[in-house]
Amino acid sequence: MPAIEAEHLYKVFGRKAREGVSRLQEGATREQLSKDDGLTAAVIDASFTVNEGEIFVVMGLSGSGKSTLIRMVNGLFEPTAGKVKIYGQDVTDASTKQLRAIRRERVSMVFQHFALFPHRTVTENAAYGLETQGVGKAERHQRAVEALELCGLKGWEDRLPGQLSGGMQQRVGLARALAADTDILLMDEAFSALDPLIRRGMQDQLIELQHRLQKTILFITHDLNEAMRLGDRIAMMRDGRIVQIGTAEQILNDPANDYVARFIQDVDRSRVLTASSVMEPPVALLGAEGGPRAAHKLMRENQIDTLFVVDRDRRFRGVLREPSVVRSLESGRDTIDDILQTDVPTVTSDTVVADLFHDSADTEVPLAVIDGDGRLTGVIPRVTLLAALGDISAKSNGHGDAEDGSLTSDGPGVKPKGKEVTA
Ligand SMILES: Nc1ncnc2c1ncn2[C@@H]1O[C@H](COP(=O)(O)OP(=O)(O)OP(=O)(O)O)[C@@H](O)[C@H]1O
Ligand SMILES: [Mg+2]
Repeated sequence: MPAIEAEHLYKVFGRKAREGVSRLQEGATREQLSKDDGLTAAVIDASFTVNEGEIFVVMGLSGSGKSTLIRMVNGLFEPTAGKVKIYGQDVTDASTKQLRAIRRERVSMVFQHFALFPHRTVTENAAYGLETQGVGKAERHQRAVEALELCGLKGWEDRLPGQLSGGMQQRVGLARALAADTDILLMDEAFSALDPLIRRGMQDQLIELQHRLQKTILFITHDLNEAMRLGDRIAMMRDGRIVQIGTAEQILNDPANDYVARFIQDVDRSRVLTASSVMEPPVALLGAEGGPRAAHKLMRENQIDTLFVVDRDRRFRGVLREPSVVRSLESGRDTIDDILQTDVPTVTSDTVVADLFHDSADTEVPLAVIDGDGRLTGVIPRVTLLAALGDISAKSNGHGDAEDGSLTSDGPGVKPKGKEVTA
């Protein structure tokens, strides 16, 4: 069962808000609603599902409706139309009592600016949510201390907030939410007020916590790099509407519209795109029982100087290079055992492109991409990596690719040179 489901959510502010929803459904724009009826359409027809254990990021510029959306998820705002379900339970028509139970057991929230009590200790601040829930003193103290340790604040329990840096104070807020030990964490710009380096640290810590605790996290940000770093999936919002939902890679590779395309043009793609999006199928493969003669034939036919060798289950065994194959043939051998190079770097398909360069620089042969069982899933010749980088920076500059389709690759190791296309 999904942790969170939002179905055709609307939030319109102003009198006769429901009529505003009808007008939107009939095709009126947000601007018309504002001009003609004095209504603010903060969220328009938003539908999404957050799976258990997922970090789902809602990303959009200021005023795009992110906070309004998250407030409908935890029941602080009643939707003008549409439904929110938490673990299948409809929040939208829950009673006040049910809502309180949901907030206590299911959902806790971290804000950008949340109030720490200046005269209470760090532990008391972290225990605050539990206190309002009526948890006894000893238990809330213990849970708060545990949560503080998870957030890297061990040793600071008895200090006052004023003695902590901004980043540490924000961690107290996170600890407060973790102490409640709910399945779902809602985080509204929780890191936005922090310095970039501290913010990076908090992002890393959140990813680690998420791996450890398997929480479901709905994270809101207006920072695309933060969204790409944290999000298993990202919903892009514009003017109240969700315009695209996908993984960082899907959004980068296939933006839904010009708006998203413009938005992502400054992202460092080499840190987001992974080996799986630049790898190619190997031109030819040799079975592990194959001999130098078969290897030589495959190399000649396919005009390649490196041949990947796999066993019957397609598990990667190593590579053969042309000169040693030729030598082996000339000396009349019939196995490849003595010429198979096995000490070549392998990468997994989720390695980010930026990290491939290091491995690629160390070797003359294409990188082998293998899965968890050691099977060869693709190869990345250095030229492909360089071409991908060129493509990456071309896209970042807002230019399309200039591919003339006449490239004849001489195989790995030779850089294909495209003709300049002049408009
Ligand atoms: N209580 C309210 N009454 C009237 N209008 C509101 C209310 N809350 C939000 N709005 C309006 O709804 C729209 C969306 O606001 P919201 O706070 O959800 O945006 P946001 O994406 O969270 O922006 P930010 O990044 O600045 O936090 C804005 O036009 C805002 O002015
Ligand atoms: Mg907001």
